[in-house]
Amino acid sequence: MQEQLHFILNNEEITGEFNGSSSLLSFIRNTKKLTGTKLVCREGDCGACTVLVGELIKGNVEYRTVTSCIFPLAKVNGKHVVTVEGINNTGLTPVQSEFVNEGATQCGFCTPGFIMSLTWYLITHSDYDLSGAINALGGNICRCTGYASIIRSAENVINALNNGNTNGSINLHKLIELNVLPEYFAGIKMRLEKIKEKIHAGIVTGDQPVWVGGGTDLYVQKFESLVGSRIALTERLGRSYILEDNNAIRLSGNATFEEFKNSGVIKKYFPGLQRQLNLIASLPIRNSATIAGNIVNASPIGDLTIILLALDATLVLSEDKNKREVKLKDFYKGYKSLNKSEDEIITEIYFENNFKNQKFNFEKVSKRTYLDIASVNTAMFVEYTGGEIKRCGISAGGVAPVPLFLKNTSEFLTGKKIENEIIEEALDIAQSEISPISDVRGSEAYKRLLLNQLIKAHFIEMFHAKIDVKELI
Ligand SMILES: Cc1cc2nc3c(=O)[nH]c(=O)nc-3n(C[C@H](O)[C@H](O)[C@H](O)COP(=O)(O)OP(=O)(O)OC[C@H]3O[C@@H](n4cnc5c(N)ncnc54)[C@H](O)[C@@H]3O)c2cc1C
Ligand code: FES
Ligand code: FES
Repeated sequence: MQEQLHFILNNEEITGEFNGSSSLLSFIRNTKKLTGTKLVCREGDCGACTVLVGELIKGNVEYRTVTSCIFPLAKVNGKHVVTVEGINNTGLTPVQSEFVNEGATQCGFCTPGFIMSLTWYLITHSDYDLSGAINALGGNICRCTGYASIIRSAENVINALNNGNTNGSINLHKLIELNVLPEYFAGIKMRLEKIKEKIHAGIVTGDQPVWVGGGTDLYVQKFESLVGSRIALTERLGRSYILEDNNAIRLSGNATFEEFKNSGVIKKYFPGLQRQLNLIASLPIRNSATIAGNIVNASPIGDLTIILLALDATLVLSEDKNKREVKLKDFYKGYKSLNKSEDEIITEIYFENNFKNQKFNFEKVSKRTYLDIASVNTAMFVEYTGGEIKRCGISAGGVAPVPLFLKNTSEFLTGKKIENEIIEEALDIAQSEISPISDVRGSEAYKRLLLNQLIKAHFIEMFHAKIDVKELI
C-alpha cells in the first residue's frame, strides 16, 4: 500500500510515496542498494539485518535496534534509520577496527548486525561494561567465527573508550570525537524536529486494514500477503505508556516488551521479573513486539500473556468510539479463537495493584536458554497474610490449546496455608486442568512434569522460608 513517508536514512532525507507494508530491509537493500545490511533468516531470529531506528522522545533522539527484515517500512516515518553504511566517518570505526584486529569475522554475513548492536550499546550507555555489551549482542547469531573473538572485540572497544575518557560520562559529542559516530549525528535531532512538523501520519481506516503492532509475529507468518496489504500501525493510536493509576497498573496495547521490562512501575512492583524478562525473545524483537500483539497472537506459550493472566488482567477493546472490557482469562475461546470482533483493537490492558503483601513469580523453560519460545511457562501471583494465601492466580502455557488460567488450582489455594501438603494437593489439581500434547517442544509426559516442577519453583522462589524445600523437590 502506497503511503507518504518522510524520514532520514543515514545522512539522507527520504520523502515520497512508498509501499509502507513492505519491509524496511527491502527498502534498504533493493531500493537504496545499501547491501551492507544482510538478509539471512527473514524471521527476526539471526540479527544479520539489524539496523538502528532513532525516534524523538521527550525532546531527545532515542535509538533502538530492530530486525529490519520483519520491520514494516511505514514504522520509520518521522524517524532516523542507521545502517552499517551510516556509521563511518573516515575509515573504520573503533568497533569495526577491533573486529578486524581480533579476526572476529569469517564469512562476514553476521558482522554488520554485530557492529550495529555494539554501536547501539555505545550510543545508549554512558558507562560501559562487558556484560552490558554482551547483552546488547543477544539477538545476533554467528554461525562460523565463534563468539570468543567477538567478545574480545567488544571488550577491547569498551576498555579503549573507558580509558580514553577521563572527563565525565560519554555523550554524543564524545562519540563523534572518538570516531564511533560520524559528525552528521549531531544534527539529527534538529532535522527530526523539522520533519515532525511536516508529517501527518494518519491511521489507515476502512476496508479492514491489518492491525500491526511490532509485526514480529505477522511478518514472520504472513510476509508475502502483508507486503501488498493495507496495514494500520497501532503505534499511531498514541504514545505508548505503562503507568500506575487508581490502584491499578495500566499498559497501552502498543507498549513494547522492552518498555515493559524497563518500566519504573514494573521494576518497583515486580523486582524479581527483570532476570526472566531477559529470557523473552531478543533485544531487537523486544524493542518491536507489543503486549497486545502477544495477546492477539494467541500462542499458547505467549510469555507476556502468561504473566498478565496470573495478574487477572482486563483488556479494553475499542472499535471506533465503542469500548468494552473483557477479562484476559475469558478472551480465548479455543485454539486461536478470540472473544473479539475483527475490527476491535486492544487499546489498554490493566490489572489491580492495591495489595498489601503480594508476591509474583514467572518461570519459563525452553530448549535454548535465550531467544527461544517456551516448552512450558507459568506465572503465579499471591496476596498473603502471615502464612496464608488470601488471593492467588496461576497461569500455564504450553499445556493446552490456549494460554491457560488454572482456575481450579487458584481457587483451591485461596484461603489455604502455605505448606508442603497443600502444594502437593494443588499440583494434582493443576494436572487435572491441563491437556498438553506431544510436539517438537516435548512429550506430553515431559510437559506435565515441567509444570509440576515449575509450580514448585514458584513456591520455592516466593516462600522458601515457609516450606520444606528438600521434601518438596
Ligand atoms: C525471533 C523471535 C523470537 C520470539 N520470541 C518470543 C518469546 O520468547 N516469547 C513470546 O511470547 N513471543 C515471542 N515471539 C513472538 C512475537 O514476538 C510476540 O508474540 C509478539 O508479542 C507479537 O507482538 P507484535 O506487536 O509484534 O505483533 P504483530 O505481529 O504486530 O501482530 C500479531 C497479531 O496481533 C494483532 N494485533 C497487534 N496489535 C493489536 C492490537 N493493539 N489490537 C488488536 N490486535 C492487535 C495483529 O493484527 C496480529 O493478528 C518471538 C518472535 C520472533 C520473531
Ligand atoms: S535476516 Fe535474520 S533476523 Fe533478519
Ligand atoms: S562470520 Fe560467518 S556467520 Fe558470523
